[in-house]
Amino acid sequence: MSERTLVLIKPDAVRRGLVGDVLARYERKGLSIVAMDLRTIDGETADQHYGEHLEKAWYPPLREFVISGPLVALVLEGDEAVEAVRLLNGATDARKAAAGSIRGDLGLSNRENLVHGSDSVESAAREIKLFFPDI
Ligand code: TYD
Ligand code: MG
Repeated sequence: MSERTLVLIKPDAVRRGLVGDVLARYERKGLSIVAMDLRTIDGETADQHYGEHLEKAWYPPLREFVISGPLVALVLEGDEAVEAVRLLNGATDARKAAAGSIRGDLGLSNRENLVHGSDSVESAAREIKLFFPDI
């Protein structure tokens, strides 16, 4: 069934010039770009986006990282897009992510792991509303 999911190409990927490579992987998979925007988010938006993680010991440095520079926010659409993006992204810890995935091929950090993908259809709806309230 066709779904929409929220993707962030995080500040590390933008700084490293990997936006094109990452975007191409989603496009080649067959996902469609519904919305896309380069922006720098503030701490309040980071807190809303990562609400489930606010109490984690690693949240403060994650917050600093995610607001440290521009990121690319996008909405992707396609058949089972939520799971498809999570598979393309790879495991959270890029050091352990499978080769062939975005994190596995391009990252070596548990925090600066290049991309975000919504973890469920419900999360996707909430995150899309936060980043793109008008679509
Ligand atoms: P999480 O939602 O568990 O991972 P995912 O992005 O795969 O859904 O965590 C959110 C982000 O928090 C994750 O992408 C990177 C960061 N993070 C850390 O910095 N340290 C950690 O130990 C974990 C688990 C995540
Ligand atoms: Mg998550």
